Amino acid sequence: MDIPRMGVPEKLADRMSMAEQHEYLRSRFSRRRALRMGAVTVGAVAVGGALGGTAFAAPATPGLLAAGATAGIDGSMVAPIGRHLAFGAEPDTQFRISWQVPAPVKRPFLRFGKHPWSLGHKVQAEVRALHTPALTPTGTPVDQYYLHVSLDDLDPDTTYYYGVGHDGFDPASQQAISTLSTFHTAPSRHWRRGRPYAPFTFTAFGDQGVSSHAAGNDHVILAQKPAFHLHAGDICYADPMGQGQDSDKVAYNARTWDAFLAQTETVASKIPWMVSYGNHDMEAWYSHNGYGGENARFYLPENGPDPRKAPGVYAFKYGNVGVVSLDANDVSYEIPANLGLTAGKQTRWLDRKLRELRADDGIDFIVVFFHHCAFSTTHQHASEGGVREAWVPLFEKYRVDLVINGHNHVYERTDAILGNKVSRAVPSGETIEPAKDGIVYVTAGAAGRSLYNFDYPDTYEGHEHRVDEVKTFHFAKGGVKVDETVQWSRVRYTGYSFIKVDVTPAHPGRKSSMKVTALAEDGTRIDHYTILRKAGDCWDDEDGDGRRPRG
Ligand SMILES: [Fe+2]
Ligand SMILES: [Fe+2]
Repeated sequence: MDIPRMGVPEKLADRMSMAEQHEYLRSRFSRRRALRMGAVTVGAVAVGGALGGTAFAAPATPGLLAAGATAGIDGSMVAPIGRHLAFGAEPDTQFRISWQVPAPVKRPFLRFGKHPWSLGHKVQAEVRALHTPALTPTGTPVDQYYLHVSLDDLDPDTTYYYGVGHDGFDPASQQAISTLSTFHTAPSRHWRRGRPYAPFTFTAFGDQGVSSHAAGNDHVILAQKPAFHLHAGDICYADPMGQGQDSDKVAYNARTWDAFLAQTETVASKIPWMVSYGNHDMEAWYSHNGYGGENARFYLPENGPDPRKAPGVYAFKYGNVGVVSLDANDVSYEIPANLGLTAGKQTRWLDRKLRELRADDGIDFIVVFFHHCAFSTTHQHASEGGVREAWVPLFEKYRVDLVINGHNHVYERTDAILGNKVSRAVPSGETIEPAKDGIVYVTAGAAGRSLYNFDYPDTYEGHEHRVDEVKTFHFAKGGVKVDETVQWSRVRYTGYSFIKVDVTPAHPGRKSSMKVTALAEDGTRIDHYTILRKAGDCWDDEDGDGRRPRG
């Protein structure tokens, strides 16, 4: 395979982490060469961590987006595209609104208000210009312009109308009023005893890409009216190689992100679209950790252990549910480009975060989502031993209620597991209590990219073909495949699908429920089960032994 001259030689790249590749490239390519290559957008300022000689994610001063390049461009000829929302760290008061413009514009902004005819609040947008130079001898440079607004003082449980624009394009004008959209803040964090939160729904999947199946899933998701959506990584496959190596650039197409954000806008312009990062989301040519491009496109909560190194690690609370996003690239033995990225910091943070959530009497359920599977049996990736070693003991210690993964392009659901063994059989339709039964793991990686296969027959609601044992494998240190025979593979479905979770909070002392339903892309139910937990039952763990006190 030909490697572009500006990259890391293939032999070296195989032995180097992404951070090492960054250092190598930085030492070889001077800032002067970067300028010769046209890597700095006029009016934009390269920031620390940008990779000299390859590509830049650079913030520009609002109002000066590519200032030199705007001369002669009429803003009325350019419409905003690819709107996508995210919660801030406090979803009851904080929203992040992001979008893209296909060409440089002047003074991008957002208008918002509580009525479509009253968009009095106008906020200037932050510009994150992303320059991708020609990555192959026959490639062409690409400039993309992402815009972001953070809103931090919103009213809880409130619908807001918003529109985005720039000089020459005002969403409040009659010509552009059809581009308005809405978002809804989470209920107030002030837990009022005797008054449970209202029921709500959220959805999740991973491994989406751009396809008719991906769009089909989006449309069925929209019909569920979720309060938020979780995307468990491998977001768009602009990098189809997915090794996190600089050599991935031979197949990289920055424009795939444009198609993805356009496809996703149908849902993501209305519903917070919370991503975690998978192996295909490490783009080595933008920054030392591979996330420089993601930082330009997404605006995630910055409350993780190290938002600079691992921006996909964060947590938020919605009603009685605490949600944690992790970066499994940090612990993956299978694809080790970012293995050890946080040097254990993420895992220590997870321990603290789960303890904090369990000690919060406003939180009943803990949901954790990330890319690589702790427990799956597909022919392709099966299970990630790095996740089992680093995080599964913590999931069990705090009895996490739901773990959602992608990476394997199928739907697969386990029985309840403790200590790597079935702790309770959970056929479709069952009800479990993780506090005493153990943890069920869901792989929902069939969002649209492609489908993998199992070595055993599919078995799902109405089509049960139960086998007692499945021969499979997990990845161990050094990427070694270790064979194993498991009993926990309860539901297997080879088809495009996602999960929806209906949360019904209860009065304190009663049992809150989360009903997990897997839906095929046409809306057919393929699996469901229910999770119960006593509302307001916080856990202080005063003796620090990880066990719930008796009585
Ligand atoms: Fe994938
Ligand atoms: Fe993956």
